[in-house]
Amino acid sequence: MGTHLGIDIGGSGIKGAPVDVLSGALAEDRHRIPTPQPALAEPVSATLREIVGSFPGVAGPVGCAFPGIVISNRIFSAANLDGSWIGIDAGARFSEACGRPVVMINDADAAGLAEARFGAAAGRSGVVLLLTLGTGIGSALLHNGRLVPNTELGHLELGGEVIEKRASNRARKTRRLSLKEWTEPLNEYLAHLDRLLSPDLVVIGGGISKRFKTFGPHLRSRAEVVPAALRNNAGIVGAALWAAGSGVAQPTGANRR
Ligand code: BGC
Repeated sequence: MGTHLGIDIGGSGIKGAPVDVLSGALAEDRHRIPTPQPALAEPVSATLREIVGSFPGVAGPVGCAFPGIVISNRIFSAANLDGSWIGIDAGARFSEACGRPVVMINDADAAGLAEARFGAAAGRSGVVLLLTLGTGIGSALLHNGRLVPNTELGHLELGGEVIEKRASNRARKTRRLSLKEWTEPLNEYLAHLDRLLSPDLVVIGGGISKRFKTFGPHLRSRAEVVPAALRNNAGIVGAALWAAGSGVAQPTGANRR
């Protein structure tokens, strides 16, 4: 309860801030440091230590969102970060580097918890799917506010290709698609997800969600589709919730240590 530190590891930046876990508000401005390149365990641990050290007043376990599969604080995939992360107990590494417990969660799962508690899916029951459209595609699946962790729906194959290679925001830029043109692979993806999961609500996250007004009207889905409310802070807020163990959407099971 109270204030917890949330950190979000991304491909280009690592950012952290203390979060009031009762309101979801950042208690101080966030601190962002460019992700070391290559993003190996050693320099990333040093970056985490620096971020934690810049908020000396915040005690307790730190929550850390990671762009890959996370089970019991261990990393099982790192599609858009350095592959050497696979098999590493990131929780143990970071705890040692920071001198206090650091608990790990997938970045999209963290965003899903945050949106379910404070954002676009707050108070929503039924099947909620959050998709983060960035360098890759992350997913969080919730039912009545409870998370099914590590769904990795950005790695579904559609038309013989992993969908994040076609429908992420990075793919849009690489292929020089306008926002409207980009909704074509997105609509195909949404239709596929609808066939598999029949969501009631789809929340579109990632930095590009701030342009939802432009591309949102071209999206077609049986489900209601809305932009994320917490935008770039969703990972930080969700990681802090994870550390606090106080989320309404608190998952139980394999990835909670
Ligand atoms: C990773 C996911 C992650 C997503 C967004 C994907 O490539 O496999 O674990 O949530 O990117 O960062």
